[in-house]
Amino acid sequence: MTNKPHSHAQWSSRIAFMLAAVGSSVGLGNIWKFPYMTGESGGGAFVLVYLVCILLIGLPILMSEWLLGRLGQKNPISTMNRIAGRLKRSRAWVLIGVGGILAAWLILSFYSVIGGWALAYIRYSATATFTGLDGASVGTLFSDLLASPGTLLAWHSLFMVLTIAIVAGGVAGGLERASKILMPALVVLLAVLVGYAATTGSFAEGFDYLFRPDFTRLTGDVILAAMGHAFFTLSLGMGIMMAYGSYLSDDVNIGRTAMTVVILDTVIALAAGMAIFPIVFANGMDPASGPGLIFQTLPLAFGHMSGGVIFGTLFFVLLVFAAWTSAISLLEPIVEWLEEKTPLNRLQSALVAGAATWLLGIATVLSFNDWAAFMPFGMTIFDLLDYVTSKFMLPLTGLATIVFVGWFMGRDEVRAQLNMSGLAFAWWRFSARFVAPLGVAIVFVFGLLQ
Ligand code: TRP
Repeated sequence: MTNKPHSHAQWSSRIAFMLAAVGSSVGLGNIWKFPYMTGESGGGAFVLVYLVCILLIGLPILMSEWLLGRLGQKNPISTMNRIAGRLKRSRAWVLIGVGGILAAWLILSFYSVIGGWALAYIRYSATATFTGLDGASVGTLFSDLLASPGTLLAWHSLFMVLTIAIVAGGVAGGLERASKILMPALVVLLAVLVGYAATTGSFAEGFDYLFRPDFTRLTGDVILAAMGHAFFTLSLGMGIMMAYGSYLSDDVNIGRTAMTVVILDTVIALAAGMAIFPIVFANGMDPASGPGLIFQTLPLAFGHMSGGVIFGTLFFVLLVFAAWTSAISLLEPIVEWLEEKTPLNRLQSALVAGAATWLLGIATVLSFNDWAAFMPFGMTIFDLLDYVTSKFMLPLTGLATIVFVGWFMGRDEVRAQLNMSGLAFAWWRFSARFVAPLGVAIVFVFGLLQ
C-alpha cells in the first residue's frame, strides 16, 4: 500500500478513511447549525457566501491539513513541530496544534449539550409525543426542555459518556461498520423529509429563501458567520483533519477525496435546509428563532406524516449518531495529547478529558435557564463559546495552516503530496497562497469593522 515507512498504522482502506472524515464533518453542524444560522442571517445571501467559502477557503485548507498530517505522521502538535523543525521554520507553528486542542475542548463542551437535546428528542418521538402537536405546543415542548437544567444535564452527561466510551476504547471497528449503514440511512431519511416538505405547499418559498440571495442582508457579521461555519462544518482549523491525515496512505488522492467529503457535507446541509424551511413557512413560524429551529420544526412534520413515530425516532437516532461520530473526533485530539504529554494511559486520558469537557458543558446547560441573564460581551455563555471558536479560533488556525503550506513549504514537496497535474496544481497553489488567506483576512476585516 505504501512505499515509505510510516510510524503508525494505516487506514484499512480508502473507504475507512472516508468514513472517518465524513463522520467527523457531517454532524450537528449540517443538520442543526446550518439551518438556524441561515434563518438568523436571512437566507440565500448567507448560503451563497457559505458556499463560496467552502470552495475557495475550506477545500484548500482541508487539503493542507491532510497533506501536513500525512507528512508529519503524528498528532497535530508533534506534526507541526516535526515539519517546522525539518524545514528550519519557527517552532511557533506548533501553536496551530495548541489552538486546535483548546478549541476542541470549548466546542465539544456545547456540542455535547446539543447532542443531549437530540437524545431527548429520540425519547419524545419514540413515545409519540409529537403526534398531532401544533406549532405552539412544539415550541412549548422545546422551551420546557431548555428550562430544566436537571434534564439537560442528564442528557448532556449521557452523550458525553457515549463519546468517552468510544474514544477510551480506541476507534472501534464496530463504529466503522455502523457508519457504513447509518450515514447512508441518514441521507435517505433526509430525502424523505425533503419529500414531506414538498407536500407542505411552501416548498417553493423555502427553496427561494435558501437559494435566492437578498444582498441587503449581507452584513459583515453575516459574512463572518458564513466563513466560520465553513470551518466548523468541515471540522477545519483544529488539527482534526491533520490527525486523520496522518493515517492516510500515499496512494490516496488528496484532492479528489477532499472534493468528495466537501460535496457530501454540503449536500447534507442543503438537504436539511430544504427539509426545514418549507415547514417553517407553511406553519407561519419564524426562520430566525435560533438554535431551537430544527427541534421546533421537524416534530411538526413527524407529528403529521403517516409513520411519523417511526420516521421521527429513526431521524433523531441518526442525528445522534452523526453528532456522536463528530464528537468522537473532537475528543480524540485532546485524549491523544494527554496520553503523550502526561503519564496517563488512554483510558485515564479519556476520562480526564471527558470530565473536563463535561464540566465546562454545565455552563452551556445553565446558559439556557438559570444563567440566561448572565451575558459577558452581550452574549450568553453558549453564544460566546460558539462565537469565539467558530468566528476566531477556527479561521485563525486555518489561516496559519494554509499560510504555512502555501508560503513556508517547498513547492515540490507539496506537489508530490497532492499529486496533481501542472495546471491543477498551479491553481491550487495560487489558492493556497493568495485566494484562501486573503479571503480569510478580508472577511475578518469586514466582520470586525462593520
Ligand atoms: N464538523 C462537525 C459538524 O459539522 C463538528 C466538528 C467535529 C468540528 N470536529 C470538529 C468542528 C473540528 C470544528 C473542528 O457537526
